[in-house]
Amino acid sequence: MPSFDLVIRGGTVATASDAFQADIGIRGGRITAIGSNLTDAAAEIDARGLIVTPGGVDPHCHIEQLAATGLMNADTFESATASAALGGTTTVIPFAAQHLGMSLAAVVEDYHRRAERGAIVDYAVHMIIADPRPEILREELPPLARSGHASIKVFLTYDRLVIDDEKLLDVLEAARNHGLLVCIHAENHGMIRWMGRKLVERGYTAPRYHGPSHPRIGEVEGIHRAIACAALVDQPIMIFHVSTAEGAAVIHRARGEGRKVWGETCTQYLLLTSAELDRPGIEGAKWICSPPLREPSDQEALWWALEVGTLQCVSSDHAPYRMDVSGKLAKGPAPSFKEIANGMPGLELRMPLLFSAMVSEGRLGLCKFVELTATAPAKIYGLHPAKGTIAPGSDADLVLWDPMRVVTIADAPRRDNAGYTPYAGRSVRGWPVRVFLRGREIVREGELLGRPGEGRFLPRSGGRAAVPTGRSEPELDPARNFGALLR
Ligand code: URP
Ligand code: ZN
Ligand code: ZN
Repeated sequence: MPSFDLVIRGGTVATASDAFQADIGIRGGRITAIGSNLTDAAAEIDARGLIVTPGGVDPHCHIEQLAATGLMNADTFESATASAALGGTTTVIPFAAQHLGMSLAAVVEDYHRRAERGAIVDYAVHMIIADPRPEILREELPPLARSGHASIKVFLTYDRLVIDDEKLLDVLEAARNHGLLVCIHAENHGMIRWMGRKLVERGYTAPRYHGPSHPRIGEVEGIHRAIACAALVDQPIMIFHVSTAEGAAVIHRARGEGRKVWGETCTQYLLLTSAELDRPGIEGAKWICSPPLREPSDQEALWWALEVGTLQCVSSDHAPYRMDVSGKLAKGPAPSFKEIANGMPGLELRMPLLFSAMVSEGRLGLCKFVELTATAPAKIYGLHPAKGTIAPGSDADLVLWDPMRVVTIADAPRRDNAGYTPYAGRSVRGWPVRVFLRGREIVREGELLGRPGEGRFLPRSGGRAAVPTGRSEPELDPARNFGALLR
């Protein structure tokens, strides 16, 4: 029997720390050797002139999910993970979403049925908790934590999903007891409702007014409050989709003070601005997402925050809605910005857009590209070292990039079900030409070879594989104050 099922020969292998020319030997779906002149392979691929990175890990994408509006978003697991694969993402972490009155356990079980049927790439599952009533946290959460669901998302805004500070503290405490990570949509709900009402009352209903209805100070306040609540119960958190310079600065300062907080931004906050919404008619609805697109100066601040480690991941926050009655236009052909579903597609193009910006245009470079899109999310969410790196023993989830290929993104539907892309007309340099999941080729030159049902669930143990360095609040010292209350 040959030593390897496959050798990928002579590519520039990139990890979060190094880039070097090497052969990669694969056996049984795993990387078993990295070296030169590997021989004795059943098959081999000439990767000279190509860059080999770990498959992307997208830690925040909404797939086949009941959204804040009460609508199902446009994608099935099949359509979303097909688009992920085509763009070089081999692991996704979408959301099983509990709304008010629902059983969390039933929602998660139903979500697994959908994922098992449709997933083409591997997946873990975050749990959205919108109704943390005592019996949910006491009876349903512990078995879910034990069966590999190690992260929760909560919302500080959206009418159907918002939780108040007391409920947030309940969730943080429960997460602490089970070693789970809590991810937070941190914007001030009252400010958003108040601003939205004032704008609509004055007739400012076009898509472009979505931006001012989510004031920047609301993000600052939400992040600050989330960090304060987390500090009170000594629970690590992840602030999702940071959009403003000031929001990133709050995290920067908090981390400097030893708070256990991670931060994420998204492709769209790095590459798009509020100017996108300023289009005739309802067209700008395509770019409505929350938090909203911001300004060029925010982009600079977010790149800086990624460079210095204030923010650790770039996700897509893929949230697809079609421009028709099933999605963005569910409330009619000319809805006010408040009636338009929030979110945009981005799973497929996250990796190519970031490769182009970071590697081809030189912003932060190849190793940082690998770190932000694969290694850091894999570590933070407990998937490393199986996912997110190229090392002996890791899953052979690999992307072969042609660094010279220039692709202009067409104004046409992509493989997801959104029916449009917010990035139409842009050119990128560098393209994922071949993609491997556990050693099996799932994309070759734009052709999807992976099949629905081949993606596997990735159970993650509680206990948080990686915890941001930090200190505990003195109140929690059991020898002194009320720490014993939290056990
Ligand atoms: O507008 C967005 N991002 N919609 C998705 C839901 C969320 O808040 O992440
Ligand atoms: Zn969110
Ligand atoms: Zn989201």
